[in-house]
Amino acid sequence: QNDIYGAGVHGRKPVVPADFAGLERRARTVMSARAWAYIAGGAGEGRTMTANREALDRWAIVPRVLRDVSQRSLEVDLFGTRLPAPILFAPVGAGGLAHPDADVHIGHAAAELGVPYIFSNQGSAPMERVAAEMDAVRPGAPRWFQLYWSVDDDLVDSLVHRAETSGAQAVVVTLDTTMLGWRPQDLALGSLPFARAEGIAQYTSDPRFAEIVAERTRAAADSTERQEISVGAIKTLFAIARNTPGALLRNLIRPEPRVGVQTFLDIYSRPSLGWAEIASLRDKTSLPIVLKGILHPDDARAAVDAGIDGIVVSNHGGRQIDGEISSVDALADVADAVDGRATVLVDSGIYTGADVFKALALGADAVCIGRPHMYGLALAGADGARDAVANIIAELDLTLGLSGHTSVSELDRDALKQIR
Ligand code: FNR
Repeated sequence: QNDIYGAGVHGRKPVVPADFAGLERRARTVMSARAWAYIAGGAGEGRTMTANREALDRWAIVPRVLRDVSQRSLEVDLFGTRLPAPILFAPVGAGGLAHPDADVHIGHAAAELGVPYIFSNQGSAPMERVAAEMDAVRPGAPRWFQLYWSVDDDLVDSLVHRAETSGAQAVVVTLDTTMLGWRPQDLALGSLPFARAEGIAQYTSDPRFAEIVAERTRAAADSTERQEISVGAIKTLFAIARNTPGALLRNLIRPEPRVGVQTFLDIYSRPSLGWAEIASLRDKTSLPIVLKGILHPDDARAAVDAGIDGIVVSNHGGRQIDGEISSVDALADVADAVDGRATVLVDSGIYTGADVFKALALGADAVCIGRPHMYGLALAGADGARDAVANIIAELDLTLGLSGHTSVSELDRDALKQIR
């Protein structure tokens, strides 16, 4: 992890800016307005995004001195896999907005670093392809799969089965996006249809999804054939057409039924999801199950009681509810509730090595990184995604040593002081 620091000391120019603010600024210059709105944007007035950063600022690192820190380790064990650093690439859908072949590039980046890539259910490339590309870089490079629970149980089974076949080492069920949050920037620019189009590769490559589309297409064709159009109905239609603006009319009489995208929208999520379905996942897979989007200690306790292996304390990068508790403010209570009975991950606003240090000290076993790797990707593909995360790892290593620690496993709340 010191390669990057060493390169900097020797004056080599980094692939991407080494500070998050600079990374974000530069990425914006190369991204389309729509991609920027979708990726950088948050829910509502952006208060949750701000809260995620401000919560970290309320904790200060209190270093210890005169401890031998010449040998350091960032290694952690997650579900039986030894990882070089307590970092994962968060699942990020519609990455194609930022870069062609986004998921493949991110897969390369993660495989080069040897840290897990959580394949998104809304990925821009089929998971099988990304898995193969990762194996080409590093055979068996760690990967997990993130699921949005569909209303179609057979589709859930199919996705989980494909994840297992693709070598996923855990299944992450995201619970905070049963519906998309209120996203004013996307609404203003009309980004969502573009994001949708970039995020259906896991579906269009899925055999069960193909069946569902075929069933619906047949049903739509049947119902059209059976329709008898009366003269009265035709007159009414002409009357409507005369009084309808062109754009609206084109929507009403679209020639293609567009069953594919509409089917995706109809089935990708199950807002009625409850603990019973989560319990049923145990019968579907022997992989560790991780619940993403837990912020309340009681939900964390319920997850542990349900036999869940891990949770991700997350507010989805501030993209779902405006004015929501920050991940870092929720973390300590959730970690206390879990009390070592499950793995605790955290994400949302964790952008630097110092941020990771604080998250670990507050009780996380590892953190997921979202936007930083997307910005690196936008700037320089796989190299950019890799270095955006490698920078965070390099700073974590320095912060660990400079604060008097030799292993991330030593970190606890004694390393921090709450300052306001
Ligand atoms: C996400 N996130 C996300 N989460 C998930 O479970 N499935 C998904 O498909 C997506 N898609 C997605 C797209 C984009 C553009 C972003 C920025 C985020 C949420 C993601 O996994 C993670 O929780 C946040 O990104 C973490 O916050 P930061 O690091 O971006 O602040």
